[in-house]
Amino acid sequence: MRLILAPMEGIADHSLRDILTRLGGIDFCVAEFVRITNHLLTEKMLLRTVPELAHGGCTRNGVPVRVQLLGSDPVCLAENAAFVAALGAPGIDLNFGCPAPTVNRHGGGAVLLAFPEQIHTIVSATRRAVPLHIPVTAKMRLGISDTSLALDCARAIEAGGASEITVHARTKSDAYRPPARWEWLAQIRETVKLPVVANGEVWTPQDYEEIRRVSGCADVMIGRGVIIRPDLMRRIKTGEEAMEWLALLPWVIDFYEQLCARMEHRHAPGRLKQWLGMLRAAYPEAEILHRTLRSERDPVAVGEMLAAGLHETSGMIKNFY
Ligand SMILES: Cc1cc2nc3c(=O)[nH]c(=O)nc-3n(C[C@H](O)[C@H](O)[C@H](O)COP(=O)(O)O)c2cc1C
Repeated sequence: MRLILAPMEGIADHSLRDILTRLGGIDFCVAEFVRITNHLLTEKMLLRTVPELAHGGCTRNGVPVRVQLLGSDPVCLAENAAFVAALGAPGIDLNFGCPAPTVNRHGGGAVLLAFPEQIHTIVSATRRAVPLHIPVTAKMRLGISDTSLALDCARAIEAGGASEITVHARTKSDAYRPPARWEWLAQIRETVKLPVVANGEVWTPQDYEEIRRVSGCADVMIGRGVIIRPDLMRRIKTGEEAMEWLALLPWVIDFYEQLCARMEHRHAPGRLKQWLGMLRAAYPEAEILHRTLRSERDPVAVGEMLAAGLHETSGMIKNFY
């Protein structure tokens, strides 16, 4: 049974992967997609999205980070996959699920779900180009507007030689509307022999038990649930109680410090506010901090307010008891 951090472009970047994998419970991550056009990627471009490649393809905590490629041309994808493998990626994942219009307009992501033969060609070309000891995997949705080709797409991925397949149990038209169609995961698992990783709408340890029961899948990938409850994977593995806000806040500060070290300072507050905005769903205290920080753009002032939040929150907790 493996727990996998989902790729989330614009959210689960290198800094957040560092925090989440240090919090524990994650067996491996898939990084956000790298778009492949008709050029060979440069090492610099790749390291921008997956800086872990400069450290053996693992996070600071030693958790492997697979690289996800998104495109539609089998030759370009295969050549780039070979390059990514040579740079030390511990695995290569192919994206057949992204619903973004800009990506779909160029024939990549979820639109490929209408063409199982093309999916097959892409997977097999990539598999041939990458040394056998490096897994080539794929991530798909159930279809574009219906599920009629879901099993064909899964079969195409298997026939192409992928070593596992992650299924986000929704069509492109479903977007992110709950519920996810977990029953489809069982159908796909029964259709192919390769391991199927279940994905979609796991927010709590109870959801995790339920998706495994309904799908029969051993492995589960979680995205948004871990962003709003950063200890979710660890709790699933250990059965621990949920982390209190006061215990989480130093991790939020660590995240902000990493942002300031890695990006132009003026961009750091925006990324921090984005994560805080999501944390509000699980932590009322994040709501207070988010409101306090909302109009502050000065990176230094934001850092000071975060540190003050640590003191205030500890005061609040002391008063509470
Ligand atoms: C903001 C955002 C960005 C995403 N980026 C990617 C991506 O780069 N590649 C990908 O395969 N899926 C991407 N996804 C889909 C997630 O990996 C996952 O399949 C989806 O969120 C469902 O899982 P969840 O309910 O656990 O979040 C993204 C989802 C979100 C919300």
